[in-house]
Amino acid sequence: MSRTQYRQDEPLPLSEPIRRLCWITDSHLDFLEADEKMRFLQLIREQEADAVLLTGDISVAPDLDADLELLAESLDGPVLLVLGNHDYYGGNIAGVREKVSATVARLENLYWLPESGIVPLNNEVCVVGHGGWSDGGYGDFMNSHVDLSDFYKIGDFMGLSAADRLQKMQELADGAAAHFRTWVPHALERFARVIVATHVPPWPDVCVGPSGEGSDQDWLPHFCSRRIGEALLETMVDRNDHHMLVLCGHSHTHARVSITDNVTAWAGQAKCGKPQIQAILDIDQPFAKLT
Ligand SMILES: [Fe+2]
Ligand SMILES: [Fe+2]
Repeated sequence: MSRTQYRQDEPLPLSEPIRRLCWITDSHLDFLEADEKMRFLQLIREQEADAVLLTGDISVAPDLDADLELLAESLDGPVLLVLGNHDYYGGNIAGVREKVSATVARLENLYWLPESGIVPLNNEVCVVGHGGWSDGGYGDFMNSHVDLSDFYKIGDFMGLSAADRLQKMQELADGAAAHFRTWVPHALERFARVIVATHVPPWPDVCVGPSGEGSDQDWLPHFCSRRIGEALLETMVDRNDHHMLVLCGHSHTHARVSITDNVTAWAGQAKCGKPQIQAILDIDQPFAKLT
């Protein structure tokens, strides 16, 4: 597989199709001691997947470069990734993105999806991804009691008023929504099925709050991205012969729902300090049959 962006006027940059895709979300590697990291990497290798997909909260900014390098060097196949909010902790957004861009340029099997455009897995399935951001689009942001660490650990949010925090979150979500509006239609021209990798759940149905009993109105402004959800659904209108599988994390709570007839969304279960494999996806199977 080449890291070159797929364009419609170019042949597929595929050398070998991907059949087994190992999906991991919210690994929070910064919670692990060195030997625990090694054991987790061994667990990933034992899955014998053809590629690994990480849907954000991989680590924290000061450790991210070293952790990405460790992942790239420990795993043989392609490692596709988007960033989550925790990946910016201890840094600022532009600085972290610049560094990740330099890291993936250096490590051949790393694919940072916002820069990769479309990554084909086989002739029928591709991946498009962007970490995105929660955008206060659901629930009541201004009256929410949730005081996320984002506002104290990411440089861009420090010292901002609540209204300015919300505006910044919306700008970040808009950036991801624009990415999907550009790339998903291109992907659908060529591929029958698209896997969308993002960090923040795009719909309340797939965003189960920490109470575990349905979407929590207090957490929803911070756990869901309405702008990204709207952008994704727009791209799937009148596309009944296509299917989109959205893989996300952030809420740390398992949920799997059919959003529409042609869109399925899946949020991963996670616990800091106990990273897990979410699923080994058999890409040859229809999305509805994936478990
Ligand atoms: Fe997380
Ligand atoms: Fe997160």
